[in-house]
Amino acid sequence: MNTASPLQCPAWAKLAQHAESWRGVHLRELFAAEPARGRLFVAEAPGVRYDYSRQRLGAITLRLLAYLAAERGFAEWREALLAGSAINSTEKRAAWHTALRAGDSAPQAVKETLGRMRQLVEHLRSQRPFKRIVNLGTGGSDLGPRLLADALTKGGEAGTLDVRFVANVDPRDLGRALEGAEPASTLVVVASKTFTTQETMANAAAAKQWGAKAFYAVTSNVQAANAFGATEILPMWDWVGGRFSVWSAVGFAGACAMGFDAFEEFLKGAGEVDRHFAEAPLEKNVPALMALIGVWNTNFLGAPTHAVLPYSNALRLLPAYLQQLEMESNGKRVDREGRVVDYPTAPVLWGGEGAVSQHSFHQLLHQGTHIVPADFIDLKLDKILSANLLAQADALAYGTDDPTLPPHQQYPGNRPSSILFLDHVNARNIGRLIALYEHKVFTQGVIWNINSFDQWGVELGKELAKRILTERK
Ligand code: F6P
Repeated sequence: MNTASPLQCPAWAKLAQHAESWRGVHLRELFAAEPARGRLFVAEAPGVRYDYSRQRLGAITLRLLAYLAAERGFAEWREALLAGSAINSTEKRAAWHTALRAGDSAPQAVKETLGRMRQLVEHLRSQRPFKRIVNLGTGGSDLGPRLLADALTKGGEAGTLDVRFVANVDPRDLGRALEGAEPASTLVVVASKTFTTQETMANAAAAKQWGAKAFYAVTSNVQAANAFGATEILPMWDWVGGRFSVWSAVGFAGACAMGFDAFEEFLKGAGEVDRHFAEAPLEKNVPALMALIGVWNTNFLGAPTHAVLPYSNALRLLPAYLQQLEMESNGKRVDREGRVVDYPTAPVLWGGEGAVSQHSFHQLLHQGTHIVPADFIDLKLDKILSANLLAQADALAYGTDDPTLPPHQQYPGNRPSSILFLDHVNARNIGRLIALYEHKVFTQGVIWNINSFDQWGVELGKELAKRILTERK
């Protein structure tokens, strides 16, 4: 498999040259010259239409990006990912999160765990042995189930379990989650792959001290969970990375909130996108296109950040989820061979809930000095919302072309964005969306020749914090 520097690929040099010819080209002119652009630069994945017509690219750009993917060995890497090969080279592990949503073809251990999760979730939801469920976890052991619960329950509805999430070791976080709860009627779920994460363990100890007696653990460290006194242990496997683990028992608290049928729909949605990723030709492969267009913007048009703007209150936590997924995966400075890279890797991902974001940071998107490529996500929830989304994408692309306006009222335009259209907010669509971004991240890792599945950059801070704590004792 190709582990050379992407700079050695002939397509990379051609793309760099090609980018020069794009410097003076405006999206306004492109649409004027090719009105069909809005129909041509579109691809479909199950339940998702990806419109990238407002990106600063053309058919030749796409062809060169496809050559680059081929030269990087994209097809072989994809096969290795989906087969569960040990592609996480620094940790000698697979990154086999796709096996968690493979339905009938999932490994037996996965099917058994899903069966056990269903029993527990249905019992908790129908018998109500606990009035409150509190998930303690951080990073990948928090962001996914938190997103699911926030997106798919309205809170306070009849029949909805009261599920809370605590990620911060700041005692206020746990304090708020336990407010009004009784220890005897509270179930604490300690979600931690390693069962050693300082913040999560400190919160688990604090919950015990508060008087909680019922503890479930979601972990691959069964010994530590037993030693802690967990009454139920749901397994995780070392072939699933934390930020790819929402599909495993890490999703348990989310499943408690939304119901197990919905959790299965979530897995199904991701499974559909996995098949699309595996089978669709590159020019129609939505996650691969998202990745290649991201590479074009980052490495050839020089955009250092990327905004994600879901026009949906239900998906307000998606940008935070994607921050871990993209930046912990591809925020790397050495390649698979340990060489320091001399090209940008993951852009800074940021974003927020549209249309609220329009009244805070969109000023910079339209008139700031940075070009920020954006993903708009339209779930067809409301006419006003969808109209605003389209208006933003158009304003960014076309800007204004009226020299009589004073400078502060002019919009330069030519700011690239894509739109992902989905039909509703539901578990299946959230599964589809997250899986799209997961495969985007993987594909970019292949292009940049980095291992997207380790996260050594978080270790030094952990060590230093431990040392400082010991010194202060
Ligand atoms: O510190 C980073 C990290 O290891 C993430 O990769 C992970 O999702 C999070 O911490 C939580 O880890 P654990 O599930 O082992 O507590």
